[in-house]
Amino acid sequence: MAKITYIANDGTKFEVEAENGTTVMENAIKNAVPGIEAECGGACACATCHVYVDDAWTDKVGSAEAMEEDMLDFAYEVKPTSRLSCQVKVSDDLDGLIVHVPERQA
Ligand code: FES
Repeated sequence: MAKITYIANDGTKFEVEAENGTTVMENAIKNAVPGIEAECGGACACATCHVYVDDAWTDKVGSAEAMEEDMLDFAYEVKPTSRLSCQVKVSDDLDGLIVHVPERQA
């Protein structure tokens, strides 16, 4: 289990208990976090699950693989901390993770 905090664009915080093995996107959808659309359902094919990983967590979360990097090209206002949340798997290591939801999706 890991506690994940999603910070919406207006500053609203959503704290969620996430099961290991699920994705950061799935937990956002399950908990109705606004701003994460996930149109492709987690297939790394839409870029509407884009989030910014909090600076304190970028090392632990790691960087995107090639397929995700390609898809991130379609995301809105990509930053060095951008990830597609359907490609980030929850584990105990990510307990306390903070992600920021972009102003809008692609
Ligand atoms: Fe479509 Fe993540 S849900 S790329």
